[in-house]
Amino acid sequence: MNALATGAGRFPAPLLGCLLSLAIVAPGVALGDVKGLSKMDFGKTKDGEAVELYTLKNGRIVVKVATYGATIVSIEAPDRDGKVDDVTLGFDTLEGYLGEHPYFGATVGRVANRIAKGKFTLDGEDYTLAVNNPPNALHGGLKGFNRVVWKARPFESPEGPAVEMTYTSPDGEEGYPGNLTVAVTFTVTADDELKIDYKATTDKATPLNLSNHTYFNLGGKTDASILDHELTLVASHYTPVDDTLIPTGEIVPVGGTPLDFTKPVAIGARIAKMTGDPGGYDHNFVLDGKPGALATVYDPRTGRVVEMKTTEPGVQFYSGNFLDGSNVGRGGVAYKKHHGMCLEAQHFPDSIHHPNFPNAVLRPGETYTQTTSYRFSTR
Ligand code: BGC
Repeated sequence: MNALATGAGRFPAPLLGCLLSLAIVAPGVALGDVKGLSKMDFGKTKDGEAVELYTLKNGRIVVKVATYGATIVSIEAPDRDGKVDDVTLGFDTLEGYLGEHPYFGATVGRVANRIAKGKFTLDGEDYTLAVNNPPNALHGGLKGFNRVVWKARPFESPEGPAVEMTYTSPDGEEGYPGNLTVAVTFTVTADDELKIDYKATTDKATPLNLSNHTYFNLGGKTDASILDHELTLVASHYTPVDDTLIPTGEIVPVGGTPLDFTKPVAIGARIAKMTGDPGGYDHNFVLDGKPGALATVYDPRTGRVVEMKTTEPGVQFYSGNFLDGSNVGRGGVAYKKHHGMCLEAQHFPDSIHHPNFPNAVLRPGETYTQTTSYRFSTR
């Protein structure tokens, strides 16, 4: 299985990108000569920090990414009749993102998913995190990477328009050890793919698990849930959890369970069997690590398809079980239970307490890397 760090060198810093980031740009205008890239002001945080919104266009898709939370604000993709719509849950304004919401589109860190009881020991030292999802720590804490303003560097990559977002998380932030420098690059390719490349380095050993928390509804701005979307996961095992969603440590075959998505199945077909409160799917699947798409979602109504590839060992498939209508998003749609679904490529939840899971600790001198992509098409 994948190791966390590759030990690869430092980030490439293409000269072109540096020059472009120096270009003076007005809100909403194209950035220099980079085809398919523009930027606008997205408002200010409550602390007065300016937030930018980048638009990346290539092939048939348009992706908007905000520097607040390095958040994917929208992904517009055509249906089988060519009708373009946003296929993610989110808001039109920064205010929506500044308010309470369950990580719509956000970059999640320092540790995505749960750490049992918000405590861990690393290299003999004990660390305590905020228990923001009682009785556990979730998604990086009270002010995780989803709630900070990242620094953006737009550039033209050989694959298409791109924006690199960087953030340095200071030693002790949210209880985690080490100054951690993170770069997340969003690229939109001519092949209708959104590619997300992550890199990180630290000066002290730290748990690390980065992910993106986009909720998809391939129906577009609709009242329909994702229960009729068909899902395929190239995952013959999953990690069972206790009733606080912490893995038991076992790695169990999906065969014969409602978690078997090795062949395409409607998400709603067996969801009633996923009992408990709130029920539904909220599980880490162990990816079989084969080349090609590791997760595929197809919406039979619109024909839209999204295929996910990743270098990560797992994916948290979350069927939007906690959505309760309290967030009213784009198009005035109230996001109710199962209105959106997430495919969060990541290391396994609570890895720090499970030596049998792939390593999720980054050490000084190592470089964390991850590439996860979502490709859009129709059938
Ligand atoms: C978790 C869910 C949680 C959601 C929003 C998902 O990654 O697995 O349990 O409710 O994020 O926080």
